[in-house]
Amino acid sequence: MSIWRATAHSKVNLHLGVGDAREDGYHELVTVFQGLNIADDVTLRVQDTYVAEIAEVVQSCRAEAAGQRMLDVPEDRRNLAWRAVEAVAAAYAQKHAGADFPVVDIHMNKRIPAAGGMAGGSADAAASLVLADRIYAQHLQVAELGMSTLTQLAAGLGADVPFMLHGNTMLGTGRGDELTSLMARGNYHWVMALSNKGLSTPEVFHKLDELRAKEELHAHLDITEVSQALLSGDPHRLAGTLHNDLQPAALSLRPDLRTALLAGERAGALAGIVSGSGPTIALLCADEEHALEVSGELVGLHGVRVVHTSGPAPGVEVVGD
Ligand code: C5P
Repeated sequence: MSIWRATAHSKVNLHLGVGDAREDGYHELVTVFQGLNIADDVTLRVQDTYVAEIAEVVQSCRAEAAGQRMLDVPEDRRNLAWRAVEAVAAAYAQKHAGADFPVVDIHMNKRIPAAGGMAGGSADAAASLVLADRIYAQHLQVAELGMSTLTQLAAGLGADVPFMLHGNTMLGTGRGDELTSLMARGNYHWVMALSNKGLSTPEVFHKLDELRAKEELHAHLDITEVSQALLSGDPHRLAGTLHNDLQPAALSLRPDLRTALLAGERAGALAGIVSGSGPTIALLCADEEHALEVSGELVGLHGVRVVHTSGPAPGVEVVGD
């Protein structure tokens, strides 16, 4: 048996512009992702049992947070990490006919909230892609698939997974999976107000379509201002450019999030937005000291847990590299 570990970072969307709904059920996005230092630890335990069937390569999948099993994270093929390992095995099987694969057990120690708008499930999938690539390359004594193939496999798993592989600061277009690196200076400190109940991403997108059918809600697809603010490295300047087209939809489904947004402003945050599809609220602060002050003010807010973090953070990091 061998054990392989990776750190899977989370993200915030500094800008999330949502365009038209497409035939395939997705929306055209223009989004600026930034990796954050809140991260899950993903471990793949490789057994000494070998199988040729892709459907048998994953033996188990378990998620824990603070030593407790997480009931809201699926522990079967519905988990993206499970499908990530299968996707890598399938890619090797296609290249190397007759290959067999050691069976793996997936373990996730979660700090990224589940269904929180910080791409935790996608991050775990990205880490599983990278680890499975190393494991199967070593087992078969062949070259790794590499980042370009893994990025393609990532896009097949979900729209956020390619960014979670790469991290740092990137523009995402198409479904959010067509990536271009953006120049960014500085480090940004955030207080994340985590909700104890998740929000479903498809429901939030659907709500936005519903709201747009009733009222004028423009798509914000121009990232000039946020890109320039990122070049300045000044959090005060970045604060004025944060934007999320999904915010009205998330607030409509979860009116209680307004309380966290208002409390964040009152606590002196430079700006607050819904992170991705929510329900996490991301509060931008001037520096680390300011973030500690703001989180101190928010402690005790009903149904909310606050965590201090910073970005940009890298994508998947294999432990021991
Ligand atoms: O790709 P992923 O499974 O993470 O997306 C979850 C859901 O979020 C999609 O099924 C879709 O309803 C919505 N979505 C969207 N447009 C995007 C990304 C996600 O409508 N660009």
